[in-house]
Order: sequence, then structure tokens, then C-alpha cells
Amino acid sequence: MKISFVEPVQSRSGAVVVGIWEGKALTPAATRLDEATGGAITRALSVPSRFDGKRDELLPIVGPPNISASRLILAGLGKPESADRRSLQRLGGNLVAHLNGSGEEEATLMIDVAEEAPLGQAEAAAEIAFGAQLRSYRFDKYKTKQKPEQKPSLARLAVATSEVKAAKHAYRPLEATSSAVFMTRDLVSEPANVIYPESLAAEAERLAEFGVEVEILDEDKMRELGMNALLAVGQGSVRPSRLAVMQWHGAKGRSETSSQPLAFVGKGVTFDTGGISIKPAAGMGDMKWDMAGSAVVIGLMRLLGARRAAVNAVGVVGLVENMPSGNAQRPGDIVRSMSGQTIEVLNTDAEGRLVLADALWYCQTRFKPRLIVDLATLTGAVIVALGHHRAGLFSNDDELAERLVAAGKSVGEQVWRLPLAEAYDRDIDSDAADMKNIGGGRAAGSVIGAQFLQRFIDGIPWAHLDIAGTAWSSKDAPTVPKGATAFGVRLLDRLVSQYYEKE
Ligand code: BES
Ligand code: MN
Ligand code: ZN
Repeated sequence: MKISFVEPVQSRSGAVVVGIWEGKALTPAATRLDEATGGAITRALSVPSRFDGKRDELLPIVGPPNISASRLILAGLGKPESADRRSLQRLGGNLVAHLNGSGEEEATLMIDVAEEAPLGQAEAAAEIAFGAQLRSYRFDKYKTKQKPEQKPSLARLAVATSEVKAAKHAYRPLEATSSAVFMTRDLVSEPANVIYPESLAAEAERLAEFGVEVEILDEDKMRELGMNALLAVGQGSVRPSRLAVMQWHGAKGRSETSSQPLAFVGKGVTFDTGGISIKPAAGMGDMKWDMAGSAVVIGLMRLLGARRAAVNAVGVVGLVENMPSGNAQRPGDIVRSMSGQTIEVLNTDAEGRLVLADALWYCQTRFKPRLIVDLATLTGAVIVALGHHRAGLFSNDDELAERLVAAGKSVGEQVWRLPLAEAYDRDIDSDAADMKNIGGGRAAGSVIGAQFLQRFIDGIPWAHLDIAGTAWSSKDAPTVPKGATAFGVRLLDRLVSQYYEKE
């Protein structure tokens, strides 16, 4: 789908979309079209209907008289004061979904927000386009037999605005964002025979194109560094493990503290069979997206480079495949992590924390970051606790936690804080080693995972996002078609911007 910004001229072919405020109040563009069509809009609003102009409501009018457009679509905008960035993104997304199923190939959005709306016309146009773009994502490269009616119909979307130049300018960083989100969604959607540690590392290397410095550590290098916890997870696989390190230096010439990077660490288990503690067959295919945390970090680093963000950031992703085999680690094995702490591996399916233990330690000791945020599809238990609408947030720092909650709300990637406490930490004490990789039973599984990670944090602000419930969606949402969500890319981009705006 091609998106453009155009002057708001009346004669358009295809679908024309106009905004209606809550309570059926017409926007200026709607009023003009109502007059041109001899009152088609007021008539549509006066017949019995559930359409009231509330957010997310749409009302199509097919074949309006006296104009070249094939159809008019009335789009509910809600109340002017609540027409914020997020609600305009949702509007763009909802429209794309509607139009793609309508058979229409071309559409023009004539959405003029009111003076009272919290953002200007150009910004509003850009946000609508952004939402439309985010929803247009599809992963259908392996579908060779789609019939035309199974494919999205919309080929061209024009967003009308009296401020074309300013809208294009406002759209530029949003376009970079959607490209990064699409990259992350692609990586997460690809099956594990295509995306495995080496091929995912190769994808990370491609960020050089955006000015991101990338290094790949192989198994010999990791062994030399003592990353035995990460290596133990990968040892059952014929596919060798990798660690990808990505650096973006955009904050040149800033103060001492801001030259210290913000760090992001991702779990990149390219397939999680559970290892010797093997998972049941049902649903195991989902474990191709057990590398979502790493794909989000890669997408984020690409975005920071693409939009030439004035920040310093580093991304570290641990890439392994968790397989059972004659060489796989066994329940009961004890490994010495890079930090020197020993781990009794009582369940080989609690592997993400082993990978992160070494990736977190490496990241802290090498880069001395100001803070560290890790992302991982770590526990099924977080789905039991929060379902699919919030990611679990754990943090040793209230300010960082609050910022993540606020950033999540503003971009529509919401997180919910869960506790960390000494009492939970006791549950991972081991009789044989410094710690074990599981707790005593089924209680508070996500907290236990987070407590384990915290043992590899050396006194710096840290947050852990358990994205097991939010990385993949079985339902369409306004700006996220079902499938890989890339949950976290926009949230962390927002967080990074906030940290640097403060200075
Ligand atoms: N990758 C899984 C967690 C997961 C489950 C992600 C469902 C997405 C959807 C993780 O490695 C895992 O297997 N966790 C175990 C931990 C347990 C053995 C302590 C779990 O959640 O059952
Ligand atoms: Mn597992
Ligand atoms: Zn896993």
C-alpha cells in the first residue's frame, strides 16, 4: 500500500473518508461533502443507526450522488479533546482494515481535526498515515495460492491536508518507525528453519546500513569470556550460538552521563523445544517466536540509527536454539555463568534466563550503561497473570518503572508492574549451587524468572519486560494485525527519547 499526502481537493475517485465528532457533529470536510451530495451525510446520520461519531466507529455510504467518489466513509473521531496521537493512529488502522476488505483500491482521507484537538493538522495527518501503515503489515511471503479476494484491495491511500509539506516532514520519523516495526515483525514471523542464531546474527549485521556498529561473538569467543550459561542452552543444537552486539552513537558532544549508553538486552531463543525437559507437542510451533525479545532490540537499534537519534544506545542479543540431543544439557547440570555465579539447571525449559544471565552480565561489564532494559518471552505464567493486553514489568528502580508505564500508555504498548522481593528470591536458592533456574512449584512463575535475572544485575537501574503474552497476537487490533506484534519497539523508542529530552 502506497501512502501519500495531498491537498484537500474535492474531486477524488475511490473512497473518501471524512470525520464526524461524537454526537454526530460534522467536521468542515464532512460539511462540504454533505453539501456537494445534496445532504447524503446528514441523511445517513438521521436514519436509525448505532453510529454516533464515537472513536473507532465507521459508517460507509456507498454510491453518493453528484460526486466522483465511489463511496463515503464516515469515521467517528470521538470528542475533540481526546483526538490524540494514539486515537488518530487507531483511526488510520481501522480504516485500512475496513477498506482492504471492501474491494476498494484507492482512498482519500479528509480528516480535519478541530482547533480544540491536542495536535495540529499536519501532525494529525501524519499520525493517521502512521496508524494506516502499521495496520497494513502482512506476512504472506509463503502463501503462493492466494486468490485476489483474499488479498488486501487497497493499493493507494492519500491523506489530505492543507499542510502537505509539514505533514510529510512529521511523517518521516514515523515511517522509520514503521519500517523498524515491520522488520521486527518479519523476524518474529519467520520460521525457525529460516531464522536461527547465525541467520538472525546476519540480520543484525545488516544494521550497519543505518550507521549502527555491529559485532557478532561466536562460540569460541563466548567460551573465552566464560558465557557458559548461554552456551549450555545452545549445546544441544547443531546450530551454533551467537551473541550480537549493536551500538548506536548518536549523542556526540553531550555531557558525561548522557554519553553512557542506555542498554537493551533481548532473549533470542530461535526455537524453544524445552530441551531435555521437552515441551508437549501442542502449540510447540509457537516457540519459533521465542526470539521476539531479540527482534525487538534489533528493530529498536535500527530505528535509532534510521532516525539518527541524538542518543547513545547499545543492544545485546543472545541467540541460541534450545534442542534435545545427545549433547544437550541435562536437568541437574551445574554451569558457571560469566558473572562467576553457579546455576543448577533443574529444568532445561527455563532457558531464557540462562541466556539473559550472561547477556546482561556482558552488557553491564563492557558498557557500564546508565540503565538496562531486557525483553524476553520468558514465562507462560505472565500470560496467566496478565493475558495478552499488558506485558509484565519488573524493575529495581521506581523512576524507570514509571517512565516505562507512561511510555507504554502513550504508544499503546502497555506494561503492568509486578513485584520483586527478597522472599521470592529465597525460592531460587539451590542446595548444590548458588542458585537453581526454577522455583519450588507453580507459584509466581514470572516473578521467579525476574528474581533470577536480578541476580545478574550489578547495582544499576534495570527493568525486565516479560513479553510472552504480547509478542504474538491471535486477534487483529487497530494498528496491529494478528501475528507478530513487535511489542516494545515503539515503547522503548519513546523511553529513549524521554531520557534524552530531560537533559
Ligand atoms: N519460552 C518459554 C515461555 C513462553 C511460553 C513464551 C508461552 C511464550 C509463550 C520459556 O522458555 C519457558 O519455557 N518457560 C517455562 C518456565 C518454567 C520451566 C519455569 C514456562 O513458562 O513454563
Ligand atoms: Mn523454555
Ligand atoms: Zn523460551
